Amino acid sequence: MMNTINSKDQLRKSMAAPLIDWILKGIPNSIEVELFDDVGGIYEAQLARMELSKWWEEPRSFRKRAAYFEKVNGETTYHYYISNIRGKGQIGRSCQYLTHWFYPYKAKFHPQMIKALINWMGLKGNDVLLDPFVGSGTALVEAKTLGLKSIGIDINPVCRLISQVKCDLLEMEPDDLKEISVQKAFYFFDSKRKKIKLTGKNETLPFGEEDIFEFKEKEKLKKFFQLCYLYALSDFTYINKELWEAFNSNFYGILKTVREFYELKKKLNLRLGEAEVTEGNARAIYLKDETIDGIITSPPYSIAVNYIQQDIQALNYLGINHHILVKDMVGLRGNGAQRIDNYYEDMQKSFIEMCRVLKPEKFCTVVIGDVTYNGERLPIASKFIDFAEEAGFSCFDVIKRPILGGYARLRYEYILIFQKKKY
Ligand SMILES: C[S@@+](CC[C@H](N)C(=O)[O-])C[C@H]1O[C@@H](n2cnc3c(N)ncnc32)[C@H](O)[C@@H]1O
Repeated sequence: MMNTINSKDQLRKSMAAPLIDWILKGIPNSIEVELFDDVGGIYEAQLARMELSKWWEEPRSFRKRAAYFEKVNGETTYHYYISNIRGKGQIGRSCQYLTHWFYPYKAKFHPQMIKALINWMGLKGNDVLLDPFVGSGTALVEAKTLGLKSIGIDINPVCRLISQVKCDLLEMEPDDLKEISVQKAFYFFDSKRKKIKLTGKNETLPFGEEDIFEFKEKEKLKKFFQLCYLYALSDFTYINKELWEAFNSNFYGILKTVREFYELKKKLNLRLGEAEVTEGNARAIYLKDETIDGIITSPPYSIAVNYIQQDIQALNYLGINHHILVKDMVGLRGNGAQRIDNYYEDMQKSFIEMCRVLKPEKFCTVVIGDVTYNGERLPIASKFIDFAEEAGFSCFDVIKRPILGGYARLRYEYILIFQKKKY
């Protein structure tokens, strides 16, 4: 007789059972775990198994860190609570939760995946995570909620701003956001829009002298409202939303996020890690040799995503001459075959730099898509493996993730895991 499924709970268990068996293979029965009900992909099961393999002996810590598990030894994990702080466009537990939704940035990591990779790398205590192509700061937000120190670098000042604000918001209290009225902040940033001229200088906050009184000595609040304005400008540009309406609704959306996280921090007694974000070049990382305990990064998908174009309205608003910026951006220099050569050359340099700053035997994970340029599918993942090995890494593992729907030019994403060789 067929089993009848008569409750949601049973349904979850029956769907996850084969995956759980595989994930638990080789792990002693001393730990009981339950996956989130939206974990279904093979790569997710791989990552769940990887994080569990590092932490099963410390179930109390694992409950606080786990990315793909809803329960550890019958207790609800912290990721359950964190991913319950729901953001715009969120569906399951993999992305858009917490501050991850705050700014529509293409080609960002799935934060849940990053959390699992940090766990598998075993980073803890005073260990430092680096993302030299930090983009919208996903890795830093995840490291922060795990109590880890992190460093993010990006050539684009808009990315520095996004990453910084997403991290700052995790430290802020709801009342901090209300120290100045939403209308006043909007008019302040909106009035600047008409006055900006392209200067070629990378200034994230070009307003200096003309600050309104309320922003004096409140850099975090000012940066937050500035990003809120850039978010509205993006909504206005791409989905034709009225500026004030977008600004106002994004403000109240993020206020809700900050309020919920503030309560959660108290409830779980969460200790946050420090995040440092700088404007810089991954081809010449400013850090000293062997100072980093782990790297997780996603370099530009070359050619597939024009990172300048997607933020052009924000760069113009900030007065940044994107023609100057492009010269240092990986993946955008040159045209045709020359562009591909430049991209490979830049990535070769970046691998040398990542290897230099990483401590021996530590791990560097690079997430990269399978890119088509001028109708040709480029062997980027295998090129990256060559570059990494030439730089002093060995290739530890490769996980292939299918990209379903959405951004159609990528079919697969590869999670390339490298280990720095011992001398
Ligand atoms: C794929 S995105 C990173 C997305 C990120 N993982 C996230 O979750 O938001 C790649 C980033 O590399 C940055 N970039 C391009 N050239 C760079 C360079 N020379 N140095 C540092 N960052 C660079 C781009 O500005 C872009 O933000």
